[in-house]
Amino acid sequence: MKKALLLAAFIVVTGATARTLEQVKTAGTIKIGTEGAFKPFNYFEGKKLTGFEIELAEAMAKQMGIKVQWVTQSFDSLLIGLNQNRYDFVIASHGITPERQKAVDFSNPHYCGGGAIGYLEGGPSTVAALSGKKVAVQVGTTYLDAVKKLSGIGEVKTYPKDTDAQQALISKRVDAWVGDKFGVIEAVKANPKIKLGAQVFSERNAMALSKGNTTLATALNAALKKVQADGTYAKLSTKYFESDIRCK
Ligand code: ARG
Repeated sequence: MKKALLLAAFIVVTGATARTLEQVKTAGTIKIGTEGAFKPFNYFEGKKLTGFEIELAEAMAKQMGIKVQWVTQSFDSLLIGLNQNRYDFVIASHGITPERQKAVDFSNPHYCGGGAIGYLEGGPSTVAALSGKKVAVQVGTTYLDAVKKLSGIGEVKTYPKDTDAQQALISKRVDAWVGDKFGVIEAVKANPKIKLGAQVFSERNAMALSKGNTTLATALNAALKKVQADGTYAKLSTKYFESDIRCK
């Protein structure tokens, strides 16, 4: 009895519980949260949301026989929105960390990436060279955590979006930018003044689900496995990265 009351109170406070696979299938549409400002993973091309993670999630949903409804919001509020059940899962290049695992569950990783340095001609290209320098990172990211831990950094400046951190570098308000290594490679393509420096750390990037939503997690893992086995994943990965970025 006490337990039931507690659970009811919890549901009132949190609004609702996460939808199970069965509930999503019955509804016919899955809601997915992402940022939409993290090229080439999730970004807007005009009004169209696209990118490796967008196309991958859509291929997985197709595999599951359900439609997709995208919800975009700022990166640092994505996991909060997940726990308010605004969407069924999140795909936004989240690195799996013990800290995040306290609040959410993760699927199997959909790629293996890591943080790398972006710099301008003559700027710091190695971790050692960051000593005493001003470094730009997106707020709420593993890049921020990693850079904060490096000893001797001059100043860490945080920005709401990764593209803002990139801009800070281009306009020389900072000496370096740390972002996803594939994101830095993409930025170099768009602006050859930016150079790819050393990788600072590696991470496994996965989709985030509400804690305990095991039916949906199992289904996502199965769908990921399927698209990785049937060539869909390799095709998408080659399209965006000219290589296969799945975890080996
Ligand atoms: N991989 C980093 C992290 O786990 C950054 C992800 C940023 N994603 C984004 N959509 N802006 O925190």
